[in-house]
Amino acid sequence: MTQTNTFDPQGWTPERLGSLMGKTYLITGANSGAGFQATRTLLSKGAKVIMLNRNTQKSILAITNLKQEFGDKAEVSFISMDLAILDSVREAATQVLDTTKQIDALICNGAIAQVAKQEITQDGFESQLGVNHFGHFLLCGMLFDRIETSQGRIVVVGSNAYKMGLKKIQFNDLNFDQKYTAWDSYAQSKLAQMMFAYQLQDRIKAAGKNTKVFVCHPGASRTNLLMDTASTFNKVLWSLLSRIIAQSAQKGAWPEVMCATQDGLAQKRLYGPTKRADTVGPVGECSLDNVALNQDMANQLWALSEEKTALTWSF
Ligand SMILES: NC(=O)c1ccc[n+]([C@@H]2O[C@H](COP(=O)([O-])OP(=O)(O)OC[C@H]3O[C@@H](n4cnc5c(N)ncnc54)[C@H](OP(=O)(O)O)[C@@H]3O)[C@@H](O)[C@H]2O)c1
Repeated sequence: MTQTNTFDPQGWTPERLGSLMGKTYLITGANSGAGFQATRTLLSKGAKVIMLNRNTQKSILAITNLKQEFGDKAEVSFISMDLAILDSVREAATQVLDTTKQIDALICNGAIAQVAKQEITQDGFESQLGVNHFGHFLLCGMLFDRIETSQGRIVVVGSNAYKMGLKKIQFNDLNFDQKYTAWDSYAQSKLAQMMFAYQLQDRIKAAGKNTKVFVCHPGASRTNLLMDTASTFNKVLWSLLSRIIAQSAQKGAWPEVMCATQDGLAQKRLYGPTKRADTVGPVGECSLDNVALNQDMANQLWALSEEKTALTWSF
């Protein structure tokens, strides 16, 4: 698909945001990077933000910092959730449903990337596929009805990596047992997330439901991604390269905030920075490689994801 200019030359910026008082946003992995910056922007407009984070200490620190910036009355809290553990996702989703009547958007932001050596989650998944795709698939499925009654949105944070790597879901060796590479397995996980999102758009339409699903990516942004998981070589390389080619985490958060709030966005689109091969620059509509829209692969992935997470969507 070709790229079009959705906004004026400077692209979407948070200056377009009006008051978000009364709105509630859920963000996964919001302790750092784009998720933390998205939280800041949403709080600055009066929204309530519930972070779904795996690390309690970091979450307490993040909330302390946010309250220092926005005052004690800032409505920011966290629910403990490890996307790598399906039971943890189930518990967190149950807690959300017990405590949160309105979900204006669920932002699926949390991720791990470029995991140096193959790791398998306790549920038996290659770690990036487990955290980035299966964890979010389950979370979205469990919260969908609440989002639907809220007339809300789901925002899936993808990556340009979806069109790199093997450009497919490797159904015959999902965990890369035969030949693991950090890059191919990360690329597969981001492709899976995006395929899920576009497939969900179709299913919502066919079922006559109203929830909007949008897909975005932060381009190349200076965040903590890679810092825990990547090989030493990739960490050093990225810490040097990112000073030259990447943008701030704050700008990296703009696409997800836009997708959570902006009216008039379209389906089957990818939003993010639009310059230098969609890595930095004005936020708008990026080119979308057809691999993310492959129906056969998406149907197979959906069935597999339902089986692996023991969650059957109601539509
Ligand atoms: N930075 C880039 O250049 C870039 C490029 C393309 C796409 N992206 C995407 O942008 C999104 C945000 O990443 P980022 O760059 O902001 O990286 P980041 O700073 O590392 O943020 C990722 C967040 O995900 C959380 N997380 C990791 N594993 C988790 C788990 N098992 N359960 C719950 N939370 C978990 C991390 O929590 P902890 O604080 O506990 O580690 C962290 O808060 C990701 O979806 C990533 O794939 C980033």
